Amino acid sequence: MNDNIDLHKQLDESRQGEVISLEQDSTPNGKKLFLESYGCAMNFSDSEVVASILIGKGYSTTLDEHEADIILINTCSIRENAETRVRKRLENFKNRKKRQPGLIVGVLGCMAERLKKTLLEEEKLVDIVAGPDSYRDLPNLIIEVEGGQKAVNVLLSRDETYADISPVRLDKKGVTSFVSITRGCDNMCSFCVVPFTRGRERSRDPKTIYKECEELFNNGYREVTLLGQNVDSYRWNMTSKGEVKDDSIPTTSFAQLMQMVAQISPDLRIRFSTSHPKDMSDEVLEVIAANNNICNYIHLPIQSGNSEVLKRMNRGYTREWYLERINKIREIIPDCAITTDIITGFCDETDEEHADTISIMKEVEWDFAFMYKYSERPKTLAERRYEDNVPEEVKGSRLTEVINLQQANALVINKKKIGKTYKVLVEGTSKRSDDFMDGRNDHNTKVVFPKGDFGKCDYVMVKINDCTTATLKGEVVEICKPSK
Ligand code: 5AD
Ligand code: SF4
Repeated sequence: MNDNIDLHKQLDESRQGEVISLEQDSTPNGKKLFLESYGCAMNFSDSEVVASILIGKGYSTTLDEHEADIILINTCSIRENAETRVRKRLENFKNRKKRQPGLIVGVLGCMAERLKKTLLEEEKLVDIVAGPDSYRDLPNLIIEVEGGQKAVNVLLSRDETYADISPVRLDKKGVTSFVSITRGCDNMCSFCVVPFTRGRERSRDPKTIYKECEELFNNGYREVTLLGQNVDSYRWNMTSKGEVKDDSIPTTSFAQLMQMVAQISPDLRIRFSTSHPKDMSDEVLEVIAANNNICNYIHLPIQSGNSEVLKRMNRGYTREWYLERINKIREIIPDCAITTDIITGFCDETDEEHADTISIMKEVEWDFAFMYKYSERPKTLAERRYEDNVPEEVKGSRLTEVINLQQANALVINKKKIGKTYKVLVEGTSKRSDDFMDGRNDHNTKVVFPKGDFGKCDYVMVKINDCTTATLKGEVVEICKPSK
């Protein structure tokens, strides 16, 4: 994994730039929508909401950008290279507009929010700019553009969660799905642009989350990932201080929400992302331990192994606190995969501070890590407070060191799994060979095995006989029967 791969959280590179095509179920208006998504899982989940809103207004979707009447691109601002990539795409569409004058191009998501009118007015790259909280307004924005104007809505909301919108599913396999449970972030990590582009944190009504997960299960899906920038701070009908807002409604914490969703069926796997070390409670760990269908997998970004750097990053915990949380996870859930995010070359990071990241990697031995060079983002606390003074080559060499160590650690971890048997949810035919299928185990590790008398959405027991740094290979020893 390197910094040029703009993957974020659990999305792999193959889904970056993914396009949606869906059946259209309302009265057609004859117009075709091409929708492309970049960035994090939350963006992909948002694109499903956007598709749902526009299909409801009569649009049909297309996989061919050349036949589109409207092109929407859902964007990411987390690092500079994510924005550069989208800009190239927008330049490309701008040229197309010269040849196809009626074509409407819109930018959605974090870049829309961050750059607001510049894309529209100064750079004249697009017709529509719509921030993450304004998707209900898209049909009106399109009408404005059809009337000859440019259209922008970048208002951030304190309560929009799109709770009542039934997202249309873009995952073509129909096995796993994202379900968003919170929006926005109140943390203000100093390097991060998200609080500026996605606004204040708010939680979604638990009843609508339950219903969405139940519908997914009834439609054949076998795994949901509950999504939020910081899932541990999910709270319904409670203030951030834990006070009840309305006595007539029950309160719901993240641990309670997971317990609720886990009851839908023992055959529905539950994952969640992302946890924050300062907020991850023992109660959540107990709920994971108590429910077989909540995966033993926690993504717990550390960012740096040095407490002074963590302070500059405004992360709200120290190295020792993080290590205590790791010990607690291993005590309560002995067989839990733990993954992380690491940033190299943050402002003023010294060789000694970087060495602390290397030493904590050796101590924790994460199963997987997303690793990035620090990229300064406009308006963030770090941009205002510190100098982006670690030279690019130093950021790069520290990143290489981190990646090499992570790969070596992962190989040792995976080799220990040879000979063990794991329950795997079958996702489909392997990309590498038609004779093989793949899926994931509880730990979220990809497992590849020969085809047999089973299909996607089945659970199988796989005995591992080989591995690489990222994949386990094995033989199916049992096909699991569905629970009653
Ligand atoms: N530079 C580099 N990496 C960043 N991340 C967030 N902001 C930045 C930035 N400015 C990383 C963090 C976060 C992940 C989603 O992206 O590691 O956990
Ligand atoms: Fe950004 Fe920190 Fe919020 Fe994650 S928790 S989205 S890194 S501000």
